Amino acid sequence: MNLVLLGPPGAGKGTQAKLLLKGRNLVQLSTGDMLRAAVAAGTELGREAGAIMGRGELVPDALVIGLIAERTDEGGKADGYIFDGFPRTIAQAEALDGLLEERGSKVDRVIVMEVDDDALVERIAGRFACAKCEEGYHDTFRLPKVDGICDKCGGTEFVRRPDDNAETVRARLKAYRAQTKPLIGYYRRQGKLRAVDGMADISEVASAIGQALDMR
Ligand code: AP5
Repeated sequence: MNLVLLGPPGAGKGTQAKLLLKGRNLVQLSTGDMLRAAVAAGTELGREAGAIMGRGELVPDALVIGLIAERTDEGGKADGYIFDGFPRTIAQAEALDGLLEERGSKVDRVIVMEVDDDALVERIAGRFACAKCEEGYHDTFRLPKVDGICDKCGGTEFVRRPDDNAETVRARLKAYRAQTKPLIGYYRRQGKLRAVDGMADISEVASAIGQALDMR
């Protein structure tokens, strides 16, 4: 099963991808995470991508397609992939179709999460994570049980993404509407698209996605 999670910044793609991994032999491929790792490692790719991400624009197609091509080569014994934040343009979607076809596979299902703009901004602006184990928290929805201490690893340092500021979020939303939204039609025409209400609670969204995966 190869699954694409589609939706605007803050829709819950990463959150739902992690839940979907539980009890399934799937591999999560998040181009956002891969690019942030390259930025943190200070590679040439990271330097190029970091500046673009800081502006809230999309990194060039060739660059992210290259990252995904490398990782799908390492698939091993997994039953499939959860593509989180990829593809984001028609060119990326066509490249993914080609990559999977070479491996005798295809995109099976695409889930689009629909969330109001105001909620997206609130979700993104309040998000932070443990610097040590990357456990995610939120100023409104999920604070650590003990103030300043990570529930999971006991870490005491927390970080916010540099692109989670109001100005960059606006640019990210603009890029989503202009370059990524056309993928809804692309996958709908292929009969692969299912829409879920991303405004619901995290567990309700997860169960709606579970149902959508079983639907023919
Ligand atoms: P990326 O890292 O992919 O960011 P994004 O798409 O902007 O998405 P986010 O990670 O912000 O949100 P999400 O949908 O995963 O939501 P999350 O689960 O975290 O990309 C970053 C940048 O990298 C891009 O701007 C671009 O520059 C570049 N890039 C990446 N991929 C690229 C590509 N393919 N091509 C070109 N450039 C690329 O949830 C958000 C918050 O909401 C969390 O706090 C969470 O706890 C909370 N939350 C989640 N669900 C719910 C819910 N149902 N109710 C209440 N709160 C919720």
